[in-house]
Amino acid sequence: MSDGSGRVEIRSETDILQTRQQARNAAEQIGFDTTDITRIVTAVSELARNVHLYAGEGTMKWRQITDNDQTGLTFIFEDNGPGIEDPDAALNGEFSTSDGLGRGLSGTQTLMDAMEIETEQGEGTTVMVKKWRS
Ligand SMILES: Nc1ncnc2c1ncn2[C@@H]1O[C@H](COP(=O)(O)OP(=O)(O)O)[C@@H](O)[C@H]1O
Ligand SMILES: [Mg+2]
Repeated sequence: MSDGSGRVEIRSETDILQTRQQARNAAEQIGFDTTDITRIVTAVSELARNVHLYAGEGTMKWRQITDNDQTGLTFIFEDNGPGIEDPDAALNGEFSTSDGLGRGLSGTQTLMDAMEIETEQGEGTTVMVKKWRS
């Protein structure tokens, strides 16, 4: 493993591929099973795409986490974009400003063990997700 943490600047489609690749490598090295690796990569892909689509650019930071005898991964997506107008509705899959299904955030929440959104109009958005190895 590198050093159990990493960072990707998200500015282009290619960077989204980078976030997927880093997430996959980290999850493989920590020993997640293939189903959970797919869940993690899908969630990361969606959150990176949201940063790219709605904020233009931002950052993904990941690190390995441990809690007692558990180990897992956390991913933090940060941007200085417009913020999410109605985060509660967005988490319920009831809010979308794109022609997407508006199910990205709600889907992501189901794939991961924990998700937190901090968002401020005109300031930006931070989305944190966690997955524990089973
Ligand atoms: N990083 C972000 N910055 C600003 N708005 C966002 C961000 N991520 C999501 N949103 C807003 O939340 C809505 C719901 O996002 P999501 O659940 O991924 O569905 P979709 O991307 O299909 O619309 C988006 O349409 C957008 O308005
Ligand atoms: Mg989306």
